[in-house]
Amino acid sequence: MIARSSILGTGSYLPEKRITNADLERMVDTSDEWIMTRTGIRERRMAAPGQTTSDLAVEASRRALASAGIGAKDLDMIIVATLTPDALLPATACLVQHKLGARFVGSFDVVAACSGFVYSLSIADLFIRSGAARHVLVVGADVLSRVVDYTDRGTCVLFGDGSGAVIMGPGNGRAEVLYTKLHADGSGAQKLYIPAGGSALPASRETVDGRMHFIKLAGREIFRFAVTATAEAIREAMADLMLSPADIGAVIPHQANIRIIDSVAERLPIARDRYFLNLDRYGNTSAASIPIALDEAAGCGFLNPGKHVILAAFGEGLTWGSAVLRW
Ligand code: UT7
Repeated sequence: MIARSSILGTGSYLPEKRITNADLERMVDTSDEWIMTRTGIRERRMAAPGQTTSDLAVEASRRALASAGIGAKDLDMIIVATLTPDALLPATACLVQHKLGARFVGSFDVVAACSGFVYSLSIADLFIRSGAARHVLVVGADVLSRVVDYTDRGTCVLFGDGSGAVIMGPGNGRAEVLYTKLHADGSGAQKLYIPAGGSALPASRETVDGRMHFIKLAGREIFRFAVTATAEAIREAMADLMLSPADIGAVIPHQANIRIIDSVAERLPIARDRYFLNLDRYGNTSAASIPIALDEAAGCGFLNPGKHVILAAFGEGLTWGSAVLRW
C-alpha cells in the first residue's frame, strides 16, 4: 500500500469562441444586468462545430502530461468525468486513450455531472494507494452547448464548454490527496436532468419536438441544495480532518453561480478571499469546472505550499462531495 497519492501535473483547455451576455441578449429575452447580478457570469466558451468532448479532454490531458513531465505511454489508467460524452457508446475515455496514443490501459467514464471530477479523483486516489495503478489521468470535460436549449433563458445563460485534467501518481510530499468524500441523493434526480435519450425515453420524433434532449433545471431548488450541500461538504471535510480555518489555504468550489459561493462563504468561517473564482469567464462547465479552476489557481500562485486546498462539488444526481489536498 502507498500512503498517499499526489497531483503531479494540471492542465486545462477552453475553446476559443466566446459567448458574451450581449450575444445571449440577441438570442433570448435576457439582459447583461440580470445575468451579472443573478449569476456573476460575463461570458462562456463554446466548442467549434465538430469539436467534441474527447477533443477538449485530449487538449487538457496533453497540457497536464507536460506539466507532470510524463508521456501518454506512462499512464496506467484514464478516467473521464463528463455528462456530454461524444456518444452514448463507447466511453469517451476510450477515445481519449486512442487519441493520446496511450497503452491499452483501463479507460472509463464517470457520470456524476458537476461532481464528476471529485468522484473521479477519489477513484484514482484509491487505485494509486492500492498499488494497482501508478499514473492516472483524470479529466473533467463537457461540451454543454450541445445539450443546452438556446430558447430557454433559465438555463442557456449558465453553461459553457471546457476541460481540465490532472495527472495523479504516488505521493511525493506535494499536492497530496488527504481525503475524499462522496454523496448522492437520487430522490432529486429530476431537479436537473435530460429527460430523453436513455432507456426511459429513447429518442423519437416526440422527444425531439418536445425539446426533451436538453437540460431541464429547477433553478431555485438546485440553488438551495447547492448552498447546503457545498457548505456541508466543506464542514464535514474540516471536521473529519480536524482542520481549523487557518489551515485552509484555498477553497475551489464548483463554479456555478457567484451567489451560491457567496452564500456558502457566509455560512463558513473561511475568509471570503480564499475562494477561487473564474466563473465570470467560463460559466458553469460542469465536470470541467473544478479542474479548470485548480489548474488556474495553481498557475497564478493562489495555492500556497503546505496549506490545505478543499475542492467542493455539487451537481446533478443529486451528487456532492469534497476532496482535500495538501499543496
Ligand atoms: O451545476 C449545477 C447547475 N445548476 C445551477 O447551478 C443552477 C442553480 N440555480 C441558479 O443558479 C439560479 O436559480 C438561477 C440563476 C438559475 C436563477 O436565479 P434565481 O434568482 O433563482 O431566479 P428565479 O429562477 O427565481 O427567476 C426570477 C425571475 C423569473 O421571473 P418572474 O417569475 O419573477 O417574473 C424568471 O422568469 O427571473 C426570470 N429569469 C430571467 N430573466 C432574465 C430567469 N432567467 C432569466 C434570464 N434573464 N436569463
